[in-house]
Amino acid sequence: MNSNHLSFFDTTLRDGEQSPGCSMTTQEKLTMAHALEDLGVDIIEAGFAMASEGDFAAIATITQAIRKPRIASLARAKSEDIEMAARALKFADRARIHVFLASSDLHLEYKLKIERAEALDLCGESVRLARSLCDDVEFSPEDATRSDREFLVEMVRIAVEAGATTINMPDTVGYTTPEEYGAMFREVRQRIPAIDEKGVILSSHCHDDLGLAVANSLAAVEAGARQVECTINGIGERAGNAALEEIAAALYVRADRYGITNNIKLDQLYPTSEVLGNLITFRPSPNKAVVGTNAFAHESGIHQHGVLANPLCYEIMTPQLVGVTKTHLVLGKHSGRAALRHRLEQLGFTVSREELQHVYYRFVALADRKKSIYDQDLVGLLPDHIRERRCEPVSELD
Ligand code: KIV
Ligand code: ZN
Repeated sequence: MNSNHLSFFDTTLRDGEQSPGCSMTTQEKLTMAHALEDLGVDIIEAGFAMASEGDFAAIATITQAIRKPRIASLARAKSEDIEMAARALKFADRARIHVFLASSDLHLEYKLKIERAEALDLCGESVRLARSLCDDVEFSPEDATRSDREFLVEMVRIAVEAGATTINMPDTVGYTTPEEYGAMFREVRQRIPAIDEKGVILSSHCHDDLGLAVANSLAAVEAGARQVECTINGIGERAGNAALEEIAAALYVRADRYGITNNIKLDQLYPTSEVLGNLITFRPSPNKAVVGTNAFAHESGIHQHGVLANPLCYEIMTPQLVGVTKTHLVLGKHSGRAALRHRLEQLGFTVSREELQHVYYRFVALADRKKSIYDQDLVGLLPDHIRERRCEPVSELD
């Protein structure tokens, strides 16, 4: 029996931080960890203890300050890595050691230079060692989606027998497709009955090289995964990891399809994205789903008119749902009279139908020449008699 609850495993501080422009100091990681705790993530992967002194320090610091989420450290399938992870996690109320080992022939042959049999031994030994140090152990067969299926099943079976409590099957290079990824979860679960018998959680971990990371994660959830690994703003190696905010929003908006519970506080999505944007060197692109600056902006007249009449016409979720304070009506050459009137009223100018018509012609002429129309441009378009009638702005500007 599969539970109806999905855990969010956030790896912004490990897989995310590993990418260019995203490195953070221990203090910055702590700030981010507090934001992730407020957001309601279940597990924070705070770093890779063996990778550097900085990572070790960040993990140890986070375990002492963060209480609600479980804290994880990554470790290769090597005893020194696993022991180091356990040391960094010493003060955690609830810790997890996350062991990974490649399962694809490509990685075994060219990266690790070991045979399959040796990899299976290493898998069993390292999961057993990790379990002797921590009651919660995740095992990831790296490059699972490009691995020979028989070998992958064998490796997962050994990890489960050795005591792994979570099996994460990463699409390390963003190669798979939703149907294929979902099928892999169904097959592994069906061929290894011990997964369900022992209550082992299956987890997705997707990279976005083909822009499919979120779709693949959702396919895994439909196929029985009960943990998703993701990052804020989708930061991560190369094209990034699955974006947490997109998965959480999709599960909410399409609850009719997924019908699964989780602990994410949706109104913290945008504030958390902002915290990260202030810590690293870049922000999400403007058209990024859920948290981009244009995610709730409407420029065309038809859309603006619709949104003013009823936001549901062009918005599948309210900006407030994800913590954005307002829908943004951008004035440009595609805007219509309804949006112009709305903005003028916000600025404190009430206009008659005829006056609006007059101002609108001037506005369109200006918008043809200028990419962005600012409030001062609008005021500049108004004849004196309208400007003199100005009252206090009626509402907060968007
Ligand atoms: O992408 C990947 O395979 C990883 C593993 C270490 C889980 O990040
Ligand atoms: Zn990864």
